[in-house]
Amino acid sequence: MKEELRVKKIKDGTVIDHIKAGKGKKVLDILGVENGFPNVTALLMNVPSKTAGKKDIVKIENKTLRKKEVDKIALVAPHATWNVIKDFKVTSKSKIELPDLLEGIMKCPNPKCVTNMNEPVKSKFRVEDKEPVKLRCVYCERLFSLEDLI
Ligand SMILES: Nc1ncnc2c1ncn2[C@@H]1O[C@H](COP(=O)(O)OP(=O)(O)OP(=O)(O)O)[C@@H](O)[C@H]1O
Ligand SMILES: [Mg+2]
Ligand SMILES: [Zn+2]
Repeated sequence: MKEELRVKKIKDGTVIDHIKAGKGKKVLDILGVENGFPNVTALLMNVPSKTAGKKDIVKIENKTLRKKEVDKIALVAPHATWNVIKDFKVTSKSKIELPDLLEGIMKCPNPKCVTNMNEPVKSKFRVEDKEPVKLRCVYCERLFSLEDLI
């Protein structure tokens, strides 16, 4: 069955496609989709895919993604596709890639890190490994895995 037939087309919003099967829930977590989230949201899991076997897809009505959100999604769903939907059509499509440096996106889990002191220092992590993700805080130099950060 064509995937669009399972969920009604949306007029305006965002579709995150080609998420590795099983990671769709994490993408929802990153976008703050939980109790009280206002937008109509669909999570499709285990959709058959020509290239990846199975994939997850997230669709959110009337939502545009900020760069910070896209960078964070890249941590759990590298190579996913970010589609912008306007008037029922895909108006832009880009591949979500993990940047080498993540700035101001997540707090450093080290309570003694200078980024957690009162001075306004933006958090900064260098991506040391992509799969599985390992991030090193530029300030306290501690190495973290994804579970430590999200
Ligand atoms: N109006 C819409 N509402 C909801 N989902 C949509 C809408 N338009 C497209 N999509 C979904 O967005 C994704 C990208 O749509 P597109 O038409 O570009 O498909 P595609 O040609 O298979 O793209 P790709 O080459 O990235 O796999 C698909 O999962 C599609 O089902
Ligand atoms: Mg496709
Ligand atoms: Zn730190």
